[in-house]
Amino acid sequence: MHETDFEKRYQQNIDPWGYRDSWYERRKYALTVGSLPREHYRLAWEPACSIGVLTRMLAARADRVVASDASPTAVAEARSGDVPANVEFSVQRLPADPDLPGADLVVLSEILYYLNLSDRERVLTQAWDMLAPEGDLIVVHWRSSAGDTYLSGDETHTWLRSQPGWQHLVTHQDEEFVLDVLRRP
Ligand SMILES: C[S@@+](CC[C@H](N)C(=O)[O-])C[C@H]1O[C@@H](n2cnc3c(N)ncnc32)[C@H](O)[C@@H]1O
Repeated sequence: MHETDFEKRYQQNIDPWGYRDSWYERRKYALTVGSLPREHYRLAWEPACSIGVLTRMLAARADRVVASDASPTAVAEARSGDVPANVEFSVQRLPADPDLPGADLVVLSEILYYLNLSDRERVLTQAWDMLAPEGDLIVVHWRSSAGDTYLSGDETHTWLRSQPGWQHLVTHQDEEFVLDVLRRP
């Protein structure tokens, strides 16, 4: 799905995939934060944050969380209500240059399969460049595809695991989603 289609979906329904309530999303988010190897991070980057549900969970695990999404409607919703003081939301389209040197956590949750190969490679390079040594990258996707992605989740993670340089720390795969944690040595 193109980012402009996401914007239209958010305008029709601010939580079209049940980020706040669905068991799939709640379980995915719990497993995501539960798979982070470190108890606490200094600086986390979460592009494609949607309405900021996972962002709020990450805020409890980092000094500062910089989150963004291409959809202005989603970001406006993310900014509404109680926003933890250590969270910043902005509208930003990937691949972006967020200029966050020294980040020690990058979170890519259900975004890479919406990017073509060149954008996917750029985002992974940006993650590598911004991460401090020993910084962590966590990537999670629905395993299948609704036909609106460049790759299925499984194909995305096969590609991800083939990228050189990263230290592979965690893989989780179940009938619904696949998750990997990679560390920049
Ligand atoms: C399937 S949702 C995932 C949301 C959230 N990360 C999660 O896991 O619950 C994909 C999100 O990516 C955003 N998105 C799609 N293409 C994008 C792009 N090129 N740059 C930034 N955000 C994009 C959409 O607006 C949408 O909020």
